[in-house]
Amino acid sequence: MKTEIIAIDAQQPDETVITHAAEIVRRGGLVAFPTETVYGLGADALNVEAVTRLFAAKGRPAINPVIVHVASATAAQALVADWPATAARLANCFWPGPLTLVLPKRPEIPSAVSAGLPTVGLRVPAHPVALALIRAARLPIAAPSANRSTCLSPTQAGHVLRGLQGRIDLLLDAGPTAGGLESTVLDLTTVPPRLLRPGLVSPAALEEVIGPIERQPPKITSDQEALPAPGLMRRHYAPAAPLECVADASAEHVRGLLNQGRRVGWLTFAAPHASCPSNLQVIVMPASAPAYAAQLYAALHQLDAAGVERIVVDLPPEDDEWLAVHDRLSRAKARE
Ligand code: TXA
Ligand code: MG
Repeated sequence: MKTEIIAIDAQQPDETVITHAAEIVRRGGLVAFPTETVYGLGADALNVEAVTRLFAAKGRPAINPVIVHVASATAAQALVADWPATAARLANCFWPGPLTLVLPKRPEIPSAVSAGLPTVGLRVPAHPVALALIRAARLPIAAPSANRSTCLSPTQAGHVLRGLQGRIDLLLDAGPTAGGLESTVLDLTTVPPRLLRPGLVSPAALEEVIGPIERQPPKITSDQEALPAPGLMRRHYAPAAPLECVADASAEHVRGLLNQGRRVGWLTFAAPHASCPSNLQVIVMPASAPAYAAQLYAALHQLDAAGVERIVVDLPPEDDEWLAVHDRLSRAKARE
């Protein structure tokens, strides 16, 4: 299949292009589009064949449910069997935005979408292109991140093409996404609600709205185990090269690897004083958590494209606002 690529304005998406993209979704095709977090790969969430194609294009295991994207809280309510007051409050505060709510699903949502679970993850994305596409398609859009399964999520159109060129119908290129890490996933079917995946909305921000939540995601003992949060597979969001986080003396560690003749990528917070040897790629990362999050995947994609053999990451601070960054780094580290 030939993948069509169309540039689109992120703030004022061209209506003709949106109509074209919406028609492809309505026909059961696959369209990659930007959200405020990462690029998603969209398919009609109510069409089992389209969702099956979506899983095949990503090489995604059937045990991993996908998030359903809608244009409003009202549209979300129509897809769930229960809409608790906590959902209403969170939707009011954080939608459109990077928060996914897991709720009991209605039977209209095919079990392929929810990986056989009785629940569905829903969110209203805060990106004009994503919202325009959902509205024009007049359908809920199932959209995991637009990458091959277990690979890095895409924050730019080029990242999408690296994994999915020739496997999808259309890519809407609206430039780099602002958030850079995937949405926070919160399970509202448990008491208290449980954080399944840290993201751009912090646990503290959630707790301000609905009171205490369980911040510890459930332990996954095996990647074959489907429930309750298969997306929490240990190895996920990973670059091709082995990655390690180093708390102190990372410069010495990097030097040691270089002395062994390895090509090394280094994410650090301060530019090294000495000039860089040709087998070292240094990326100086921002000191603030949101800016770091926005650039992390792009930095890892860049190191992968450069063909480094090892990636060394200076360990970021431990505070709460770095929770999502630590989560993604620890998954990028896992080799299995
Ligand atoms: O920011 C995002 O969330 C991006 C953009 C495209 O919206 N999407 C995304 O989708 O990251 P994906 O498929 O790569 O991650 C979805 C994760 C699953 O891996 C799983 O952890 C969780 O959301 N999830 C979805 N539905 C669920 C359900 N019914 N129960 C538990 N977890 C669910
Ligand atoms: Mg993903």
